Amino acid sequence: MKKKMFAVMLAACMAASLAACGGGAADTTTAATEAATTTAVQEEGDTQADATEATEAESGAEEEKAAGGSLVMATNAEFPPYEYHDGDQIVGIDVEIAQAIAAEMGMELEIEDIAFDSVIPAVTSGKADFGAAGMTVTPERQQNVDFSKTYATAAQVIIVKNDSAIAGPADLEGKTIGVQLGTTGDLFVSDEENVAGATVERYNKGFEAIQALNQNKVDAVVIDGEPAKVFVSQNDGIKILDEALTSEEYAICVKKGNTDLLDNINTAITNLEESGKLEEIILKYIPAE
Ligand code: ARG
Repeated sequence: MKKKMFAVMLAACMAASLAACGGGAADTTTAATEAATTTAVQEEGDTQADATEATEAESGAEEEKAAGGSLVMATNAEFPPYEYHDGDQIVGIDVEIAQAIAAEMGMELEIEDIAFDSVIPAVTSGKADFGAAGMTVTPERQQNVDFSKTYATAAQVIIVKNDSAIAGPADLEGKTIGVQLGTTGDLFVSDEENVAGATVERYNKGFEAIQALNQNKVDAVVIDGEPAKVFVSQNDGIKILDEALTSEEYAICVKKGNTDLLDNINTAITNLEESGKLEEIILKYIPAE
């Protein structure tokens, strides 16, 4: 999405009735981005056309892919239940939150599935409008991007083989630990102050770290709690230790200073919270135990 287009869209949205702008989101339960976009476009009718014309007149060569523009989400779809592949679809909690944001903005969601450590660069370079990747807010990342309000809490947990001698965080000392490259799990165990003398094996996908554990190439895997549960449920002979290493919060990131988009994202998250929709989405992917 081009910034200018966004400003025009926002203006158009403000000019149109609020009901028309927010209307598409209320009944978009699942993977209905296209339907939601269609609804929004139909509802906005003339306003939409005016906005497009205005942009074309203003920005000349700048072209948008869809009538309402597309909102590009950068993610790494190797992180169930937040984002993962289901057949040829990318689904998950973050995807549904992003779809709700796009629907509220009358835009079409486009997902760029890239390496996790490329998500922030994609956002800062403008290749993507926002990053939604079960991403933990950290002070270092806050120097490069702006974060939305948080929408989930998380923790780094330790996964070991059922018969492992590793029983808690203190036992990680001097061990070989598998992580997903560039994640907070990677950062945590790579810090000598947290875990002394560890050898950190960094994988592109969390699942590859689990495979390495199964093959005894690493002694433990450190990863976020929810994907840990999914991976452990899919693999025999491994377990999650009770004591977690960190306590974290997930948020969506945008390019620094993109307050228009950030406001829209925050409004969408608040609406999802207040309508009970966020809870519904989370329960769909993380059934209550
Ligand atoms: N919460 C961790 C972090 O922010 C891991 C996120 C990994 N996400 C993903 N989609 N692979 O570093």
